[in-house]
Amino acid sequence: MTPQIAIMNKSNLMLSIAGFVILASASCNNNETSNKEEAVSKTGIKTAAWGRTDGRQVHLFTLSNKSGGQVKISDYGGTIISWLVPDKKGSSGSIVLGFDSLSGYLAKPPYFGATIGRYGNRIAKGKFKIGSDIYTLATNNGKNALHGGLKGFDKVVWETLPVVDSVASITLIYTSKDGEEGYPGNLKTSVTFSLSDDNELTIEYNAVTDKPTPVNLTNHSYFNLTGDVSNNILNHVLMIDADLYTPVDSTLIPTGEIKSVKGTAFDFTQPEKIGARINEVAGGYDHNFVLNRKDSSLQLVATLSDSSSGRRLEVFTTEPGLQFYSGNFLNGSIKTSDDKPINQHAALCLETQHFPDSPNEPSFPSTILKPGEKYHSVTKYKVAVF
Ligand code: GLA
Repeated sequence: MTPQIAIMNKSNLMLSIAGFVILASASCNNNETSNKEEAVSKTGIKTAAWGRTDGRQVHLFTLSNKSGGQVKISDYGGTIISWLVPDKKGSSGSIVLGFDSLSGYLAKPPYFGATIGRYGNRIAKGKFKIGSDIYTLATNNGKNALHGGLKGFDKVVWETLPVVDSVASITLIYTSKDGEEGYPGNLKTSVTFSLSDDNELTIEYNAVTDKPTPVNLTNHSYFNLTGDVSNNILNHVLMIDADLYTPVDSTLIPTGEIKSVKGTAFDFTQPEKIGARINEVAGGYDHNFVLNRKDSSLQLVATLSDSSSGRRLEVFTTEPGLQFYSGNFLNGSIKTSDDKPINQHAALCLETQHFPDSPNEPSFPSTILKPGEKYHSVTKYKVAVF
């Protein structure tokens, strides 16, 4: 669908990036509070300066469609900032958590909307082995490594490659250096976000490496289909096409078992209210579901609906797993840009991915990318009203 870093030749890529830098440099003096629109592409993508960090200009891109849908994405962390979709009465609201300004993100919220890498979720004790080589990662979640480490892909400014396509689309690229956060190999990564007129947001990930390394990329959007964090998500109804899940220990590392959901609080094979049995799950849902799938095609794996707004979200992915996180660690200490506390269960994540701690669990599908191979993963979120 879109040009990928892995298949573009170097000179094309540099030319495209250079073209964009010229576009962006017009507003390099703007500070964070200035959101002046600076460019509109042929497909209607608006680009605005959105503050600075790490000596770099940060941008906000607005993708709009003909159905009144609008997605804002920043090159800081490859982050989905907001996703406006009309509800059943036609009023618009963002179905994901996010802030109006860059400062909200620099305060390190728990991965709101961010692209997660190099490895989504946990690696036990921040250690793994490839062949006879032992690697030690930065640990940032007790003794474990979580979501790429202290400065994962969610906390860096990505390069931007605007894509001319039939749908509004933007490509971000980032090269994670050999040794960054302890991971081996230079990893060239691209993430393309596309918004269709049917309110489908497709996220396509590509990566190549020059040394064997674990790769597990995902997006960490927090959904609340009511569009208002004052309502929690316990009345949302969830279906996950998974007969199995991976139980975890007290530090949320998979025990290595793969268990049936049948008859348990993890059974979302039929649509079920999230709040129905959440009290039976210590700490709330924060588990990887083993998706039922025959092949690695893009497949519908989960549906989330909210009758009050009439919004329904469908999740399609090529990935084997889905981390369902019910916003357990949100505790009201972070506030929205309009000063509403973001309380426990104010939103939930449906993170498409390989299983947590796969580098240490030989029975899980492998996450090791080798030189010469191409990492490719697609996830599509589609919103409709019912
Ligand atoms: C993931 C993890 C959770 C938590 C959140 C961020 O979903 O599985 O345990 O770390 O990210 O707070």
